[in-house]
Amino acid sequence: MATSPISGSELEDLKLMAQNHFWPHGKPAGDMSEETGLKTITRGKGVWLYDEKDQPWYDTTSCLWLVNLGHGRTEIAQAAYEQMKQVSFTPMGSVSPPTAKLSAKIASVAPDKDSRVFFVSGGAEANETALKMARKYHINNGEGTRFKVISRINSYHGATHATMSLGGGTRSPHEFEPLMAGSIKIANYDSYRYGFGTKSEDEASAEYAKDLERAILGHNPSTVSAFIAEPISAATGIHVPNKSYFQMIREICDKYGVIMISDEVITGYGRTGSWFAIEQWDIVPDIITFAKACTSGYLPIGGAIATKKISDAFIGDDSKTFTHLMTFGGNPASCAAGVQTLEIMENEKIVQNSKDMGDYMMGKLEELYKYDIVGHVRGGKGLLNAVEIVKNKDTKEPFPADFNLAKKLSVLFNKYKMIGLPSPSSINLAPPISVSKDEVDDLVERVENIVRDLESDIK
Ligand SMILES: Cc1ncc(COP(=O)(O)O)c(C=O)c1O
Repeated sequence: MATSPISGSELEDLKLMAQNHFWPHGKPAGDMSEETGLKTITRGKGVWLYDEKDQPWYDTTSCLWLVNLGHGRTEIAQAAYEQMKQVSFTPMGSVSPPTAKLSAKIASVAPDKDSRVFFVSGGAEANETALKMARKYHINNGEGTRFKVISRINSYHGATHATMSLGGGTRSPHEFEPLMAGSIKIANYDSYRYGFGTKSEDEASAEYAKDLERAILGHNPSTVSAFIAEPISAATGIHVPNKSYFQMIREICDKYGVIMISDEVITGYGRTGSWFAIEQWDIVPDIITFAKACTSGYLPIGGAIATKKISDAFIGDDSKTFTHLMTFGGNPASCAAGVQTLEIMENEKIVQNSKDMGDYMMGKLEELYKYDIVGHVRGGKGLLNAVEIVKNKDTKEPFPADFNLAKKLSVLFNKYKMIGLPSPSSINLAPPISVSKDEVDDLVERVENIVRDLESDIK
């Protein structure tokens, strides 16, 4: 249903309220200007978001990588509404029908079908939960000395204190030091420039995995609790690790008794063409964390999916219990939205669509190699892609900071009516995974316009 465009004094009042009282995430407060300020979004349908003038914008990254079924799915809203009419919250020591149903549904699509799900309300909480779960697992197994957590430089696991300590890259972690005690960083995966002075991705991949072993050995294995990684890190530019990387990681974790946590806050629920991305490396992590797309972003949700081996360690006398609680974890309305989301995904074969449209989009994006400034097209697993823009394709040299590529990209995103998350050097793409072929064509055409404009600007 189209809303009427907002204009005149109503729009002025709205902008004034936002200008004076709204504190936006990651942007300076108070800027409502046309050029750099906040947009007002009034409705959405499929891959489209509409501003106050009812102009359509292409949602190129499913907002914050989460509106996987696209905007305006009234069935999800209806499911939450029906649940709220029945009961909106249930007391401690109880479970609501949709909460029980969603836990079973998630286990049925998880790598370990005997998994248990601990619900929270978002991605950072899910990762914090996984860290505490790992620590308590070791305590319950008589290994209370294990508390350190290894993560990869520049990954993103959330903005709370512990999860921020595991990430990096942006200013924030250093501004908020001291970080969590026992947080250790290893190298992150780069499928374009390779690390450790290696010359091929296979060599680099082995070194990246061995970096985990070096860190465990260097920090006393009997004190290391967990390793956390996103199967494909959006924060570091959507590098897809090769087949052996996560298999080696799994072996190393097993060798030293370290819990492996797969952060699937972005990659979970079909984004990469499988229910969870890590399946594609044929391994089973100990804990999978999720949030965002479990309800297609319609209501807040998050959780930690523990394998039977992990959750069984919490069964026994009171001392074994996981004393951990988040008020909104397992909220009945969120879970009803989650059940509905997963049902739509099954009925409409959305995971397969993500794979098929992902393969199609990757093929089309690879055609952009004909432009001199397109250095690397990444993806190939569902609908999670990046097009890296470089100054010199032969040497892979990036543009210098004073070229201000990020600013240029955001101006061009505006020009071509795209809303998304361009990074300092890449165009990131993750449209709703319900996207059609025509919509993929439309998106790639807009990306090509951006690349062409950038290239002619340089020449
Ligand atoms: C991989 C990953 N983990 C964790 C988080 C944190 O999720 P939230 O913002 O829901 O706390 C994010 C958020 O974008 C993420 O991308």
